[in-house]
Amino acid sequence: MSHAADTEDAATRRAAVVDQIRADTGIDEAMIGRLVDGFYERVRGDQLIGPVFHERIDDWGPHLEQMKLFWSSVALMSGAYHGRPMPKHLPLPVDARHFDRWLELFETTARELCPPVAADHFIERARRIAESLELGIAGANGVLLRKGERYVQSQDAWTPPS
Ligand code: HEM
Repeated sequence: MSHAADTEDAATRRAAVVDQIRADTGIDEAMIGRLVDGFYERVRGDQLIGPVFHERIDDWGPHLEQMKLFWSSVALMSGAYHGRPMPKHLPLPVDARHFDRWLELFETTARELCPPVAADHFIERARRIAESLELGIAGANGVLLRKGERYVQSQDAWTPPS
């Protein structure tokens, strides 16, 4: 088979996967758009994690666009997102408390804006990715987490100025 036919084949298969997930869950790009907009609206107003975003994001338009592509890739397997989230999170000053809050806001938003099957689909994936980001951040800070262990930033790591 020619290379072009192979590529076309892969594209057709991917489209079929997306259609299947869409049919099973009711998730489409419009729902993803509402979820992402609603979620970051909450994030921006949150006292704990809001500041972590505000210090790094001036222009929310491009960030929201990237997050819609990301969720299209994660939830629908569309392949729309091409970034690498892990390196962007490794330097962030966050630990288990921040991830718990992130997930709490995400779950509230998903339950409010999506039908139960779709909300479950988003939430399951968000939990998995959050866990892997927390593991990566702990590792970047020299902490190796065991299975199920959480990353809590040590107060001892901070030494007062003399
Ligand atoms: C404590 C929790 C989190 C905080 C404080 C946080 C914060 C941030 C910030 C500040 C950025 C922008 C970084 C930059 O452009 O330099 C970012 C990017 C991103 N975040 Fe998070 N994040 C958190 C959890 C998550 C989780 C759980 C996911 C996925 C389920 C996620 C997905 C992403 C993605 C995909 C990007 C990159 C978008 C791009 O390619 O530009 N984040 N995050």
